[in-house]
Amino acid sequence: MKHNITIFSTLLILQISCSPKPIGDQEAIKEEIENREIKRVTKAEILGAASKAGDQIAKVAQSSLASVLVEKIQSEGVSAAIQHCNVMAFPLVDSVATIYDAEIRRVSTRMRNTEDKPDEIESEILDAYEYASENNLPMEPNVQEISDRVILYTKPILLSNPVCLNCHGNIGTDITPENHNQINSLYPDDSATGYKIGDLRGMWSIRLLKKNLIQNMD
Ligand code: HEC
Repeated sequence: MKHNITIFSTLLILQISCSPKPIGDQEAIKEEIENREIKRVTKAEILGAASKAGDQIAKVAQSSLASVLVEKIQSEGVSAAIQHCNVMAFPLVDSVATIYDAEIRRVSTRMRNTEDKPDEIESEILDAYEYASENNLPMEPNVQEISDRVILYTKPILLSNPVCLNCHGNIGTDITPENHNQINSLYPDDSATGYKIGDLRGMWSIRLLKKNLIQNMD
């Protein structure tokens, strides 16, 4: 019996020492340290940090967008502002995104830019927001773990500012025919018109890496 245990533990040691971990493989070592770090904080703490980071990024993005659009429309007109509804072009948004190495998207079921089409997981969440919007239920930001490494933060985007109607309202009344032509020539598959104040326009979809969230925890 004693003999058996010795053989067993020898085999175990051999197995451990032969596990495929190339010595000097910096990536593997880094990964292991990161994984160990992940184990030290609870999942709830990571989700809490994701919620805070997502709120911060969405807030900066949203206010940058509104102020840039208002300023552009006032100084140069709607036509000149059309190319400024792309949040990723804003340095401020880029800088908060860099802190968390976040991937920021805006998605919509009636999108203007076809790149803003929601993927499977985004569709599910967006559907839930749409249901809530139609039924006057509260719409809260949401965080969920979508892989071992990534947390997805989402937040509804409401069309709450009248300035948005210039390009997302009714064609002919809110959107001039000239501006509509310009939008159509840039976005031939546009379906982001006909909105009114208070409508759900889409949602922020922000992918955050767990390791960056942990690194940025106070
Ligand atoms: C001057 C015209 C203009 C105004 C004003 C405007 N948008 Fe846009 N919007 C656009 C264009 C153009 C796009 C496509 C941007 C791109 O290519 O990424 C867009 C895209 C979007 C998207 C991404 C989803 C999609 O349809 O592709 C959202 C969400 C959005 N706008 C919300 C708003 C909100 C909210 C406001 C008001 C604060 C607003 N927009 C004001 C022109 C405008």
